[in-house]
Amino acid sequence: MDKDESQKKHKRSEMETDDTLTNGQGHPVTNNQNIRTVGNRGPATLENYDFIEKISHFDRERIPERVVHGRGAGAHGYFEAYGKVGEEHPSKYTRAKLFQEKGKRTPLFVRFSTVIHGTHSPETLRDPRGFAVKFYTEDGNWDLVGNNLKIFFIRDAMKFPDLIHAFKPDPVTNIQDGERIFDFISNTPEAMHMITFLFSPWGIPANYRQMQGSGVNTYRWIDQEGKAVLVKYHWEPKQGIKNLTQKEAEEIQAKNFNHATQDLYESIERGDYPEWELLVQIMSDEEHPELDFDPLDDTKLWPEDKFPWLPVGKMVLDRNPDDYFNEVEQAAFGTGVLVDGMDFSDDKMLQGRTFSYSDTQRYRVGPNYLQIPINSPKKRVATNQQGGRMRYRPDKGEDQSPHINYEPSTINGLKEAKQEGKVHTPYVEGKLVREGIERENNFGQAGETYRHFEEWEREELITNLVNTLAPCDVRIKTKMIDMFKQCDAEYGRRVEEGLLNSDPGNTSSREPIGAEGAEDAPRQAEEKG
Ligand code: HEM
Repeated sequence: MDKDESQKKHKRSEMETDDTLTNGQGHPVTNNQNIRTVGNRGPATLENYDFIEKISHFDRERIPERVVHGRGAGAHGYFEAYGKVGEEHPSKYTRAKLFQEKGKRTPLFVRFSTVIHGTHSPETLRDPRGFAVKFYTEDGNWDLVGNNLKIFFIRDAMKFPDLIHAFKPDPVTNIQDGERIFDFISNTPEAMHMITFLFSPWGIPANYRQMQGSGVNTYRWIDQEGKAVLVKYHWEPKQGIKNLTQKEAEEIQAKNFNHATQDLYESIERGDYPEWELLVQIMSDEEHPELDFDPLDDTKLWPEDKFPWLPVGKMVLDRNPDDYFNEVEQAAFGTGVLVDGMDFSDDKMLQGRTFSYSDTQRYRVGPNYLQIPINSPKKRVATNQQGGRMRYRPDKGEDQSPHINYEPSTINGLKEAKQEGKVHTPYVEGKLVREGIERENNFGQAGETYRHFEEWEREELITNLVNTLAPCDVRIKTKMIDMFKQCDAEYGRRVEEGLLNSDPGNTSSREPIGAEGAEDAPRQAEEKG
């Protein structure tokens, strides 16, 4: 029952009119200005229910913020299918119902975000942007949890906490530190492609409406016969793409650190609804030894000339949330949330992510996070799940006995669904190991991306890298220069020259983090003030 229905059902007391304030128990509040005291100068009493309810609810207004992607903005809208995947009917590749018919609309909710800093941090920072979409399909929810950039820093989920720790503020000073970032990156060669994008203007999208989106990881699509193809998803903004230079970002930040949220909200309020086209790249479900990279490696782009971008539909955002906390803050997206016609691939990052999202949400929002309206499918839900904090209704079918919360049962209760379409049953064989993939090719595509940039983008990239690397330990600079050279000789030379110009001896301009005696030796950066 939604709020309106439940409220209409109940009459108000005689003390109330339609706008009377009540407490959470429904008691009309006759005095919202004063706590109850002995005389008007106090002391206060403890049985002051209205006050205690008000203040203790306030004390609990925050839930833990997301461990990453804390700052975000959201909007409602719909997806409209083209009824085609490129020139083909979607059923050639997937039986997922939302794509099959031209013009079919599926409601959705999107949350855009920045990654590293907290819920009220500036939206002008150099950081990937999150692009998470929840489709409320007739078969249940599908979440496509992506970023603006099409690749990622690492290819194995084991490294994610270390990556994030290196980028987040120092645990002692609570300040983000380029030396900690590049200490990690200089030992993580697979990150060179992402770093090349991140330190270029592509690392600061101008706003949320003018940025791309990508699922980054590789999924599978499954057809009616149970056959699979590999698929990658991309969002292209119809508003065009716009990025910022460091200087432009700083100018905006000096005046407004909510500019992206504001831009999205105001554009929807004035009826200027942002749109994105959804495109896919498809590959046969094999290892593809002819490629110089592994198709399941999320640090790589799939070359467009070999794997063209095929349009499948468009997304329109046409409604702002009614309440930020209820909808945007409590929204919970996960890579495990797929519908019939979709499946996971063996992408190791995707497998790790799929555990992490619902795990963190059971902690962040609570074990019954799927009963919150923004996360709840817009279709029938019928489970035998029971209890847990803040559960407020059984997930039962209409004619089900509330007594039968188990399956199987002869008396009553929920039954398994019929399988539609053949199950995809990939054959898996191999030794259980802890090993990296073979075709790492850490530098090739980073060099191609560097050469593909326009000259002003390359200049920005070099300047941003040099400014961040200059105060770092010399060992980090040396390793980074060596890796930039492996990506592209000119790329490495320009970073090296920039660093020499900023610090001619190319010596460390500060004591390395954790060096013996570091506490006694004030860092040069700090001395400079
Ligand atoms: C949020 C884990 C990689 C995109 C999160 C959250 C966690 C997480 C724990 C917080 C979720 C919440 O509190 O609701 C991981 C792990 C990764 C990984 C373990 C790698 C192993 C990625 C990648 C992308 C991505 C590669 C891009 C494709 C996002 C987005 C959000 C998010 C967009 C915010 C969702 C929202 O708006 O609520 N991630 N992540 N993550 N992650 Fe990841």
